[in-house]
Amino acid sequence: MNYAEFYRQSITDPETFWKEQASRIDWHQPFGKVRDYSNPPFAKWFVGGKTNLCHNAVDRWVASQPDAAALIAISTETETEKTYTFRELHAEVNRMAAIMLSLGVTRGDRVLIYMPMIAEAVFAMLACARIGAIHSVVFGGFASNSLATRIDDATPKLIVSADAGSRGGKAIAYKPLLDEAIELAGHKPQRVLLVDRKLMPMNLVAGRDTDYASERERYLDAQVPVVWLESNEPSYILYTSGTTGKPKGVQRDVGGYAVALAASMRHIYCGKPGETYFCTSDIGWVVGHSYIVYGPLIAGMATIMYEGLPTRPDGGVWWSIVDKYKVSRMFSSPTAIRVLKKQPPELMRKYDLSSLQALYLAGEPLDEPTSAWIAGALGVPIIDNYWQTETGWPILSIARGLDQRATRLGSPGVPMYGYNVKIINESTGEECGASQKGVLAIEGPLPPGCMQTIYGDDERFVKTYWSNFPQRLAYSTFDWGIRDADGYYFILGRTDDVINVAGHRLGTREIEESIASHPNIAEVAVVGIADQLKGQIAVAFAIPKNVDAAETPESRKALEAEVMATVDHQLGAVARPARVYFVGQLPKTRSGKLLRRSIQALCEGRDAGDLTTIEDPQSLQQIRQALAG
Ligand code: PRX
Repeated sequence: MNYAEFYRQSITDPETFWKEQASRIDWHQPFGKVRDYSNPPFAKWFVGGKTNLCHNAVDRWVASQPDAAALIAISTETETEKTYTFRELHAEVNRMAAIMLSLGVTRGDRVLIYMPMIAEAVFAMLACARIGAIHSVVFGGFASNSLATRIDDATPKLIVSADAGSRGGKAIAYKPLLDEAIELAGHKPQRVLLVDRKLMPMNLVAGRDTDYASERERYLDAQVPVVWLESNEPSYILYTSGTTGKPKGVQRDVGGYAVALAASMRHIYCGKPGETYFCTSDIGWVVGHSYIVYGPLIAGMATIMYEGLPTRPDGGVWWSIVDKYKVSRMFSSPTAIRVLKKQPPELMRKYDLSSLQALYLAGEPLDEPTSAWIAGALGVPIIDNYWQTETGWPILSIARGLDQRATRLGSPGVPMYGYNVKIINESTGEECGASQKGVLAIEGPLPPGCMQTIYGDDERFVKTYWSNFPQRLAYSTFDWGIRDADGYYFILGRTDDVINVAGHRLGTREIEESIASHPNIAEVAVVGIADQLKGQIAVAFAIPKNVDAAETPESRKALEAEVMATVDHQLGAVARPARVYFVGQLPKTRSGKLLRRSIQALCEGRDAGDLTTIEDPQSLQQIRQALAG
């Protein structure tokens, strides 16, 4: 079947299409209805079917290839490297599951995982899946306030964490941040399970904190039966940023997600059992959930989990991994490739990269020089893929398993099967023609694997994603897009206040709220501006309460450092703005809305755009002056 037919069937006859894809995973009990869209925009997939993500990722392969590599945990931070076969991974997951059960976690309970990139984090995710607990992994780069917000929203019974992470050879505290977050949060988890890496001293809170290593000893031979879940029970919550300061808990199901990942591993990523997959993302992001942990394992592949920088001990470290483990498919981000492009070419040439068949890049726009350079250097197809935390797997790409069409520069490709992609005019709700800019939207229902709802807030789910177009119930991606005459799509940036720094999705509102909590800041605007290396960087313009504090260059520098430290402390260094400028006034509309786009335009050296609604044009002059230093 060619791709056009494959795609068409997925849209016109989704029941037959997805029924066939569903046979790629094991079902404990067959499903009845393939899809239930009787209550739009809420979709249910494989209704009545019972399955389990951990079974499909681990147990299933223990039966057929117990001694094949499953998880390869490499840390250039602690200089450790360990391969777990499917049998060994199974044993570790059973131990972790037994510990969780002993700590009182049962089906439907939330478990928050705040961990560095170590094997135990994967054990914890899979153990949750095994016993039907709902995990919520929080990116290790987030700090106490970010963590506290998520603790309050997910109300976990258990938190799994560690003493510390490590970056560039320096230990990064986790436990003290966690303690502070629990202090800040209204919800108090009953138990905290801690992996002691011996990177930093750690104080255990009596009655609450438990040491993982000693518990593990107690459960060495544990066998914890898989809990068979109805396909539509939740598997996990993953928080992501939007327009407001409050992150959204993207909730995913079990069966639809397993099927979607199995299908994508076959049609898009083309991985086979026994091969090795290397995704350089982090388990704190959706790419890590889908393509470090669940996707490759469901496909019976070995997956590499890497802790460390791409440039340490030298810029050849990732290529050395490809060589050593005969990686067949690699997944990274354009920013990471731009970093590697700056490395001496012999660091790449030193290694045998002949096992590599394709490189997948996602998370941010792929620019032509980066794509051309890496394609030339590796001599394999470079496949852009566009998607979101909300969708869990690619919306746009080229499904190499079925589709040999050429890539087109600047375009992530064409709609993936199951996604009824439309470019919609945001004011009329009508579909745009070729070459007309509009909002990239998806006609409901979303295919299997996508978000079910916002955790605990169905209303917000409908309001946020499904209420953006007049007369039309369609999911908004909040990305501007355009389609060319041949059906290739192009992404033209976000329609909302979300920014993308080095592939990390951040909400400007969250950063503004953090900065505004500084005692000497009255008001602030944060914008994302174009950056050669990171795609975008965050820049803040703040009005100090006490103007004297920003009178001289020295005092401005000191206040800027304080503001940055506030963000580091509350949200994490990942959200720290690259610069904080001080102004007396911010550009706003007469109704008081911040003109973020005008500020961004000035920062990027462009015209400030439509200013008919601006309250005081003088405010723009202040931005220009601040930028001029
Ligand atoms: O703006 C788009 C951008 O990243 C957003 C989603 O980020 P996140 O939820 O972190 O999920 C990343 C999953 C890969 C999108 O709304 N984005 C993602 N991939 C691309 C992209 N922009 C351009 N090209 C891409 N390939």
